[in-house]
Amino acid sequence: MFSRDTLARFQNLETPFYYYDLNVLDQTLISCKSASDKFDFHIHYALKANFNDVVLKSIKKAGFGADCVSGNEVKKAIEIGFDPDKIVFAGVGKSDKEIVEALNHEINCFNVESVQELSVINEVAAKYNKKAGIAIRINPNVDAHTHQYITTGLEENKFGLNQWELPACVEVLKGCSNLELIGIHFHVGSQITNLEVFKSLCIKVNELNTWFQEHGFDLKVLNVGGGLGVDYHHPDENTINDFMSYFAIYNQFLERRPGQEVHFELGRALVAQCGSLISRILYVKNGLKKNFLVLDAGMTELMRPALYQAYHKIENITADSANPIVSYDVVGPICESTDCFGKEVELPESKRGDMIAIRTAGAYGEVMASGYNLRERVKSVYSEG
Ligand code: LLP
Repeated sequence: MFSRDTLARFQNLETPFYYYDLNVLDQTLISCKSASDKFDFHIHYALKANFNDVVLKSIKKAGFGADCVSGNEVKKAIEIGFDPDKIVFAGVGKSDKEIVEALNHEINCFNVESVQELSVINEVAAKYNKKAGIAIRINPNVDAHTHQYITTGLEENKFGLNQWELPACVEVLKGCSNLELIGIHFHVGSQITNLEVFKSLCIKVNELNTWFQEHGFDLKVLNVGGGLGVDYHHPDENTINDFMSYFAIYNQFLERRPGQEVHFELGRALVAQCGSLISRILYVKNGLKKNFLVLDAGMTELMRPALYQAYHKIENITADSANPIVSYDVVGPICESTDCFGKEVELPESKRGDMIAIRTAGAYGEVMASGYNLRERVKSVYSEG
């Protein structure tokens, strides 16, 4: 929903651009932080969802840590001012250069994704005379019941160690004097809307927490990852997640021992609803079977529909709402048939120059933009100043 003033402001701007409602962002952050504080849970925001500087500054200010998946994300988190002690670094393919960089910044923890990576981080840390805090990412084989492309916690996925590798992992760890095992890490997938999935995860984490204790490791951290889904269909009705219910599940089912910390890595649920992709209609093509609205934004600005057949709510924000409703395929200008934001979208009759908002685009939108077709880098506009 855009205020009259905001719409008037849009009229003077070149499209396409991402619009970030910083008020929605702040309200979301406050709601999440106060719910997590109730249970003494710690959150590292997953930068991969959105690493726009303005967004990151709000997140840092609200007291979150940072979950990074590349050396550049670690660097960005440091630049924005996140406390290194609240930075974790995950990813199946950390390069030696990235490991060195993270060690130099003295980040809190590396989430390690293979037995071989343990030895590599140990060697690099020894070379630079550092001690690396690590958490073992374990593939819990829990089905996230989400889109196959964003499921990560099944045995067939590339992420983390499988449980049968844990004895070998413990053996290797014994010889790694430059590593300190601080925790175990999990992440089963993204856009999870069935909270039962998190309950299943808790049961798995409890089992493994006990396993490590029995093998002589008193873990300080249980990191359960992110994955909380948002409502792409009703961005105005369900703008902010029910964080209390989400955390309450973990509070109820996770058996943390006294002193053990619980860490989360939320991305999407913190930033998705504050962002919209705003574009203009370049052309209206009326056909016999189909009507097309051709926008000045395409898959190069928002890739999710093309890549995952993801749904985003599409609104004509300048048409007269009294216009008759027409069904349109809303497409971009890119030379690919998958460059389509939505098929048979019912909108008030639209014309060249109308403005279109593609909602719930704050997460995995701007960050996944590409330069394909030599497109210009998409701009950002903020609700304040
Ligand atoms: N932690 C780890 C280890 C992850 O792999 C991810 C996301 C997160 C945390 C944050 O998950 P979230 O709370 O945002 O669900 N590009 C896809 C989503 C990819 C998610 C990758 N990992 C999309 O547009 O739907």
